[in-house]
Amino acid sequence: MTIDAKILTALRTVASGGISGSDLAQQLEISRAAVWARIEDLRALGYEIEASPHQGYRLVTEPNVLHADNLLSRWPTAKVIGRDIRVFQETTSTSDIVEKLALDGVKEGIVVFAESQTQGRGRLGRKWWSLPGKSLLFSVLLRPDLRPQAATQLVVAAAVSLARASHQQTGLEADIKWPNDILLRGKKVAGILTELSAELDHIKHVILGIGVDVNQTPADFHGEIRKSATSLKMETGAEVNRAALATAIMQALDQDYARVRAGQFAALASEWGQRCSTLGRRVTIRVGDRLIQGRAEALDHAGALLVRTQFGRLETIIGGDVTLEK
Ligand code: BTN
Repeated sequence: MTIDAKILTALRTVASGGISGSDLAQQLEISRAAVWARIEDLRALGYEIEASPHQGYRLVTEPNVLHADNLLSRWPTAKVIGRDIRVFQETTSTSDIVEKLALDGVKEGIVVFAESQTQGRGRLGRKWWSLPGKSLLFSVLLRPDLRPQAATQLVVAAAVSLARASHQQTGLEADIKWPNDILLRGKKVAGILTELSAELDHIKHVILGIGVDVNQTPADFHGEIRKSATSLKMETGAEVNRAALATAIMQALDQDYARVRAGQFAALASEWGQRCSTLGRRVTIRVGDRLIQGRAEALDHAGALLVRTQFGRLETIIGGDVTLEK
Protein backbone atom coordinates (compact mmCIF):
# COMPACT_ATOMS: atom_id res chain seq x y z
CA MET A 1 0.00 0.00 0.00
CA THR A 2 1.17 3.54 -0.67
CA ILE A 3 1.80 6.01 2.18
CA ASP A 4 -1.30 7.99 1.16
CA ALA A 5 -3.46 4.88 1.29
CA LYS A 6 -2.05 4.07 4.74
CA ILE A 7 -2.79 7.60 5.95
CA LEU A 8 -6.37 7.35 4.69
CA THR A 9 -6.78 3.92 6.33
CA ALA A 10 -5.50 5.34 9.63
CA LEU A 11 -7.75 8.41 9.43
CA ARG A 12 -10.75 6.22 8.67
CA THR A 13 -10.14 3.82 11.53
CA VAL A 14 -9.96 6.46 14.28
CA ALA A 15 -13.77 6.85 14.27
CA SER A 16 -14.88 10.36 15.26
CA GLY A 17 -11.68 11.39 17.02
CA GLY A 18 -8.48 12.27 15.24
CA ILE A 19 -4.95 10.93 15.13
CA SER A 20 -1.90 12.97 16.03
CA GLY A 21 0.87 13.72 13.55
CA SER A 22 3.37 11.92 15.76
CA ASP A 23 1.21 8.75 16.01
CA LEU A 24 0.80 8.75 12.25
CA ALA A 25 4.54 9.31 11.76
CA GLN A 26 5.31 6.41 14.11
CA GLN A 27 2.79 4.04 12.46
CA LEU A 28 4.07 4.83 8.98
CA GLU A 29 7.74 5.09 9.97
CA ILE A 30 8.16 8.50 8.35
CA SER A 31 8.87 11.95 9.80
CA ARG A 32 6.15 14.31 11.03
CA ALA A 33 7.14 16.73 8.28
CA ALA A 34 6.59 13.97 5.71
CA VAL A 35 3.14 13.26 7.24
CA TRP A 36 2.28 16.95 6.95
CA ALA A 37 3.41 17.04 3.30
CA ARG A 38 1.29 13.96 2.45
CA ILE A 39 -1.75 15.50 4.21
CA GLU A 40 -1.28 18.68 2.15
CA ASP A 41 -1.25 16.58 -1.04
CA LEU A 42 -4.42 14.76 0.01
CA ARG A 43 -6.09 18.12 0.71
CA ALA A 44 -5.11 19.27 -2.78
CA LEU A 45 -6.90 16.18 -4.14
CA GLY A 46 -10.11 17.29 -2.41
CA TYR A 47 -9.94 15.49 0.96
CA GLU A 48 -11.06 17.79 3.76
CA ILE A 49 -8.72 16.97 6.64
CA GLU A 50 -9.00 19.02 9.81
CA ALA A 51 -5.95 19.51 12.01
CA SER A 52 -6.27 20.54 15.62
CA PRO A 53 -3.65 20.66 18.37
CA HIS A 54 -5.79 18.44 20.66
CA GLN A 55 -7.32 15.91 18.29
CA GLY A 56 -4.68 15.82 15.58
CA TYR A 57 -5.76 15.05 12.01
CA ARG A 58 -9.39 14.18 11.26
CA LEU A 59 -10.94 13.20 7.92
CA VAL A 60 -14.07 15.30 7.42
CA THR A 61 -15.13 14.70 3.80
CA GLU A 62 -13.84 12.88 0.76
CA PRO A 63 -13.97 14.04 -2.87
CA ASN A 64 -16.57 12.45 -5.14
CA VAL A 65 -13.97 11.07 -7.50
CA LEU A 66 -12.38 7.66 -7.77
CA HIS A 67 -8.87 7.65 -6.37
CA ALA A 68 -6.72 4.51 -6.19
CA ASP A 69 -5.24 5.29 -2.75
CA ASN A 70 -8.73 5.88 -1.36
CA LEU A 71 -9.99 2.57 -2.74
CA LEU A 72 -6.91 0.73 -1.46
CA SER A 73 -7.33 2.32 1.97
CA ARG A 74 -10.96 1.15 2.18
CA TRP A 75 -10.01 -2.44 1.40
CA PRO A 76 -6.58 -3.06 2.91
CA THR A 77 -7.19 -6.78 3.55
CA ALA A 78 -7.96 -7.84 -0.02
CA LYS A 79 -6.85 -11.43 -0.58
CA VAL A 80 -6.86 -11.36 -4.38
CA ILE A 81 -9.32 -8.90 -5.89
CA GLY A 82 -8.36 -5.31 -5.21
CA ARG A 83 -4.87 -5.89 -3.84
CA ASP A 84 -3.69 -3.63 -6.66
CA ILE A 85 -5.92 -0.85 -8.03
CA ARG A 86 -5.42 1.70 -10.82
CA VAL A 87 -7.71 4.58 -11.73
CA PHE A 88 -7.69 6.36 -15.11
CA GLN A 89 -9.55 9.55 -15.93
CA GLU A 90 -10.15 8.35 -19.47
CA THR A 91 -9.24 5.28 -21.45
CA THR A 92 -10.52 3.38 -24.48
CA SER A 93 -11.81 0.54 -22.32
CA THR A 94 -10.67 -0.60 -18.88
CA SER A 95 -10.62 -4.12 -20.34
CA ASP A 96 -8.00 -2.97 -22.91
CA ILE A 97 -5.73 -1.86 -20.07
CA VAL A 98 -6.23 -5.11 -18.17
CA GLU A 99 -5.52 -7.08 -21.34
CA LYS A 100 -2.15 -5.32 -21.65
CA LEU A 101 -1.40 -5.95 -17.98
CA ALA A 102 -2.32 -9.62 -18.43
CA LEU A 103 0.07 -9.96 -21.38
CA ASP A 104 2.78 -8.28 -19.28
CA GLY A 105 2.37 -11.06 -16.71
CA VAL A 106 0.75 -8.98 -13.94
CA LYS A 107 -0.64 -11.02 -11.03
CA GLU A 108 -4.38 -11.71 -10.89
CA GLY A 109 -6.61 -9.49 -8.80
CA ILE A 110 -5.63 -6.10 -10.20
CA VAL A 111 -8.65 -3.83 -10.74
CA VAL A 112 -8.60 -0.99 -13.26
CA PHE A 113 -11.22 1.77 -13.02
CA ALA A 114 -11.90 4.65 -15.39
CA GLU A 115 -14.06 7.73 -15.00
CA SER A 116 -14.81 7.57 -18.71
CA GLN A 117 -14.26 5.25 -21.67
CA THR A 118 -14.07 6.24 -25.33
CA GLN A 119 -14.65 2.68 -26.60
CA GLY A 120 -16.50 0.96 -23.78
CA ARG A 121 -17.89 -2.36 -24.95
CA GLY A 122 -20.78 -4.54 -23.91
CA ARG A 123 -21.73 -8.10 -24.73
CA LEU A 124 -22.51 -9.29 -28.22
CA GLY A 125 -20.53 -6.50 -29.88
CA ARG A 126 -22.63 -3.73 -28.34
CA LYS A 127 -21.22 -0.39 -27.18
CA TRP A 128 -21.24 0.56 -23.50
CA TRP A 129 -21.59 4.30 -23.21
CA SER A 130 -21.68 6.27 -20.02
CA LEU A 131 -21.38 9.91 -18.92
CA PRO A 132 -18.06 10.57 -17.14
CA GLY A 133 -18.06 10.39 -13.36
CA LYS A 134 -21.53 8.87 -12.91
CA SER A 135 -20.85 5.15 -13.15
CA LEU A 136 -18.49 2.51 -12.00
CA LEU A 137 -16.52 1.25 -15.00
CA PHE A 138 -13.89 -1.29 -14.14
CA SER A 139 -12.17 -4.50 -15.17
CA VAL A 140 -10.60 -7.24 -13.09
CA LEU A 141 -7.82 -9.63 -14.09
CA LEU A 142 -8.31 -13.27 -13.05
CA ARG A 143 -6.10 -16.28 -13.65
CA PRO A 144 -8.28 -19.12 -12.40
CA ASP A 145 -7.19 -22.74 -12.52
CA LEU A 146 -10.29 -23.76 -14.50
CA ARG A 147 -11.17 -25.36 -17.78
CA PRO A 148 -12.61 -22.92 -20.35
CA GLN A 149 -16.04 -24.61 -20.06
CA ALA A 150 -16.19 -23.57 -16.41
CA ALA A 151 -15.69 -19.85 -17.12
CA THR A 152 -19.44 -19.30 -16.73
CA GLN A 153 -18.87 -19.92 -13.01
CA LEU A 154 -17.01 -16.62 -12.92
CA VAL A 155 -19.92 -14.78 -14.52
CA VAL A 156 -22.26 -16.30 -11.95
CA ALA A 157 -19.86 -15.29 -9.16
CA ALA A 158 -19.64 -11.73 -10.50
CA ALA A 159 -23.42 -11.42 -10.83
CA VAL A 160 -23.97 -12.67 -7.27
CA SER A 161 -21.29 -10.27 -5.97
CA LEU A 162 -22.84 -7.30 -7.76
CA ALA A 163 -26.34 -8.08 -6.52
CA ARG A 164 -25.13 -8.60 -2.93
CA ALA A 165 -22.97 -5.46 -2.88
CA SER A 166 -25.66 -3.23 -4.34
CA HIS A 167 -28.14 -4.57 -1.78
CA GLN A 168 -25.64 -3.86 0.99
CA GLN A 169 -25.09 -0.28 -0.17
CA THR A 170 -28.63 0.69 -1.13
CA GLY A 171 -30.98 -1.77 0.59
CA LEU A 172 -32.49 -2.62 -2.81
CA GLU A 173 -32.95 -6.25 -3.83
CA ALA A 174 -31.43 -6.63 -7.29
CA ASP A 175 -32.45 -9.40 -9.69
CA ILE A 176 -29.97 -11.32 -11.75
CA LYS A 177 -30.98 -12.00 -15.32
CA TRP A 178 -28.90 -14.86 -16.64
CA PRO A 179 -26.11 -14.75 -17.42
CA ASN A 180 -24.94 -11.33 -16.51
CA ASP A 181 -27.46 -8.54 -16.22
CA ILE A 182 -28.35 -6.97 -12.90
CA LEU A 183 -31.84 -5.53 -12.83
CA LEU A 184 -33.73 -3.26 -10.46
CA ARG A 185 -37.50 -3.32 -10.87
CA GLY A 186 -37.04 -4.94 -14.26
CA LYS A 187 -34.54 -2.38 -15.60
CA LYS A 188 -30.85 -2.98 -16.17
CA VAL A 189 -28.51 -1.29 -13.70
CA ALA A 190 -25.29 -3.22 -14.34
CA GLY A 191 -23.69 -5.58 -16.81
CA ILE A 192 -20.71 -7.90 -16.94
CA LEU A 193 -18.53 -8.62 -19.95
CA THR A 194 -16.32 -11.68 -19.61
CA GLU A 195 -13.38 -11.97 -21.99
CA LEU A 196 -11.42 -15.18 -22.01
CA SER A 197 -7.96 -16.10 -23.16
CA ALA A 198 -7.63 -19.87 -23.14
CA GLU A 199 -6.00 -22.95 -24.55
CA LEU A 200 -8.13 -26.00 -25.28
CA ASP A 201 -8.12 -27.33 -21.75
CA HIS A 202 -6.97 -24.40 -19.63
CA ILE A 203 -7.84 -20.78 -19.04
CA LYS A 204 -4.87 -18.42 -19.39
CA HIS A 205 -6.67 -15.38 -18.06
CA VAL A 206 -10.13 -13.89 -17.77
CA ILE A 207 -11.03 -10.22 -17.85
CA LEU A 208 -14.21 -9.38 -16.00
CA GLY A 209 -15.45 -6.00 -17.21
CA ILE A 210 -18.17 -4.48 -15.06
CA GLY A 211 -20.29 -1.42 -15.67
CA VAL A 212 -22.70 -0.12 -13.01
CA ASP A 213 -25.03 2.83 -13.54
CA VAL A 214 -24.76 4.64 -10.23
CA ASN A 215 -25.66 8.34 -10.18
CA GLN A 216 -27.35 8.90 -13.56
CA THR A 217 -30.66 10.73 -13.82
CA PRO A 218 -33.23 9.79 -16.52
CA ALA A 219 -31.90 12.59 -18.75
CA ASP A 220 -28.47 10.90 -18.78
CA PHE A 221 -29.85 7.92 -20.74
CA HIS A 222 -30.53 8.41 -24.44
CA GLY A 223 -32.60 6.73 -27.12
CA GLU A 224 -33.71 3.13 -26.80
CA ILE A 225 -31.73 2.59 -23.62
CA ARG A 226 -33.88 5.07 -21.69
CA LYS A 227 -36.70 2.50 -21.49
CA SER A 228 -34.58 -0.38 -20.32
CA ALA A 229 -31.89 1.19 -18.10
CA THR A 230 -31.88 2.65 -14.63
CA SER A 231 -29.35 3.79 -12.04
CA LEU A 232 -29.00 3.18 -8.31
CA LYS A 233 -29.73 6.86 -7.72
CA MET A 234 -32.92 6.72 -9.78
CA GLU A 235 -34.13 3.76 -7.74
CA THR A 236 -33.12 5.02 -4.27
CA GLY A 237 -33.63 8.74 -4.83
CA ALA A 238 -30.24 9.45 -3.29
CA GLU A 239 -26.70 9.98 -4.56
CA VAL A 240 -24.61 6.84 -3.99
CA ASN A 241 -21.00 7.03 -2.83
CA ARG A 242 -19.11 5.37 -5.70
CA ALA A 243 -15.98 4.61 -3.69
CA ALA A 244 -18.01 2.82 -1.01
CA LEU A 245 -19.94 0.88 -3.66
CA ALA A 246 -16.75 -0.04 -5.55
CA THR A 247 -15.25 -1.32 -2.30
CA ALA A 248 -18.34 -3.38 -1.46
CA ILE A 249 -18.25 -4.94 -4.95
CA MET A 250 -14.53 -5.77 -4.72
CA GLN A 251 -15.04 -7.31 -1.28
CA ALA A 252 -17.93 -9.42 -2.56
CA LEU A 253 -15.94 -10.47 -5.64
CA ASP A 254 -12.97 -11.42 -3.49
CA GLN A 255 -15.23 -13.67 -1.39
CA ASP A 256 -17.06 -15.20 -4.33
CA TYR A 257 -13.92 -15.76 -6.38
CA ALA A 258 -12.48 -17.61 -3.36
CA ARG A 259 -15.62 -19.80 -3.42
CA VAL A 260 -15.03 -20.63 -7.09
CA ARG A 261 -11.36 -21.41 -6.47
CA ALA A 262 -12.24 -23.63 -3.51
CA GLY A 263 -14.66 -25.63 -5.67
CA GLN A 264 -17.68 -24.30 -3.73
CA PHE A 265 -19.71 -23.43 -6.77
CA ALA A 266 -22.81 -25.16 -5.37
CA ALA A 267 -23.08 -22.56 -2.58
CA LEU A 268 -22.73 -19.74 -5.09
CA ALA A 269 -25.26 -21.29 -7.44
CA SER A 270 -27.75 -21.53 -4.61
CA GLU A 271 -27.34 -17.82 -3.75
CA TRP A 272 -27.65 -17.10 -7.47
CA GLY A 273 -30.90 -19.11 -7.57
CA GLN A 274 -32.35 -16.98 -4.77
CA ARG A 275 -31.44 -13.73 -6.51
CA CYS A 276 -32.27 -14.77 -10.05
CA SER A 277 -35.32 -13.64 -11.99
CA THR A 278 -34.64 -16.09 -14.85
CA LEU A 279 -35.25 -19.43 -13.14
CA GLY A 280 -38.78 -20.73 -13.52
CA ARG A 281 -39.57 -18.16 -16.24
CA ARG A 282 -40.40 -18.73 -19.88
CA VAL A 283 -37.46 -17.44 -21.91
CA THR A 284 -36.41 -16.86 -25.47
CA ILE A 285 -32.68 -17.06 -25.98
CA ARG A 286 -30.83 -16.00 -29.08
CA VAL A 287 -27.62 -17.99 -29.51
CA GLY A 288 -26.01 -16.82 -32.76
CA ASP A 289 -28.68 -17.46 -35.42
CA ARG A 290 -30.67 -19.86 -33.25
CA LEU A 291 -33.71 -18.97 -31.17
CA ILE A 292 -34.39 -21.28 -28.24
CA GLN A 293 -37.68 -21.06 -26.39
CA GLY A 294 -38.61 -22.81 -23.19
CA ARG A 295 -38.62 -22.64 -19.41
CA ALA A 296 -35.38 -21.88 -17.51
CA GLU A 297 -35.10 -24.73 -15.00
CA ALA A 298 -31.71 -24.56 -13.28
CA LEU A 299 -28.00 -23.88 -13.46
CA ASP A 300 -25.64 -26.79 -14.06
CA HIS A 301 -22.33 -27.38 -12.23
CA ALA A 302 -20.48 -25.08 -14.66
CA GLY A 303 -22.94 -22.19 -14.43
CA ALA A 304 -24.73 -22.94 -17.72
CA LEU A 305 -28.50 -22.41 -17.90
CA LEU A 306 -30.66 -25.51 -18.32
CA VAL A 307 -33.69 -24.74 -20.45
CA ARG A 308 -36.59 -27.18 -21.04
CA THR A 309 -37.65 -26.43 -24.61
CA GLN A 310 -41.20 -26.57 -25.90
CA PHE A 311 -40.27 -30.01 -27.31
CA GLY A 312 -39.43 -31.33 -23.84
CA ARG A 313 -35.67 -31.49 -24.39
CA LEU A 314 -33.27 -30.06 -21.77
CA GLU A 315 -30.81 -27.69 -23.49
CA THR A 316 -27.59 -26.50 -21.85
CA ILE A 317 -27.02 -22.85 -22.72
CA ILE A 318 -23.61 -21.35 -22.07
CA GLY A 319 -24.25 -17.88 -23.49
CA GLY A 320 -26.75 -15.83 -25.40
CA ASP A 321 -29.21 -13.00 -25.29
CA VAL A 322 -32.12 -13.80 -22.99
CA THR A 323 -35.59 -12.29 -23.18
CA LEU A 324 -37.83 -13.03 -20.22
CA GLU A 325 -41.37 -13.75 -21.45
CA LYS A 326 -44.39 -12.48 -19.53
C1 BTN B 1 -23.08 -5.83 -20.95
O1 BTN B 1 -23.22 -5.82 -22.18
O2 BTN B 1 -24.05 -5.86 -20.20
C2 BTN B 1 -21.70 -5.76 -20.34
C3 BTN B 1 -21.24 -4.37 -20.15
C4 BTN B 1 -19.87 -4.26 -19.55
C5 BTN B 1 -19.36 -2.83 -19.52
C6 BTN B 1 -18.08 -2.70 -18.77
S1 BTN B 1 -17.66 -1.04 -18.40
C7 BTN B 1 -16.08 -1.53 -17.85
C8 BTN B 1 -15.60 -2.60 -18.81
N1 BTN B 1 -14.96 -1.99 -19.95
C9 BTN B 1 -15.64 -2.17 -21.07
O3 BTN B 1 -15.30 -1.74 -22.20
N2 BTN B 1 -16.73 -2.90 -20.83
C10 BTN B 1 -16.84 -3.27 -19.44
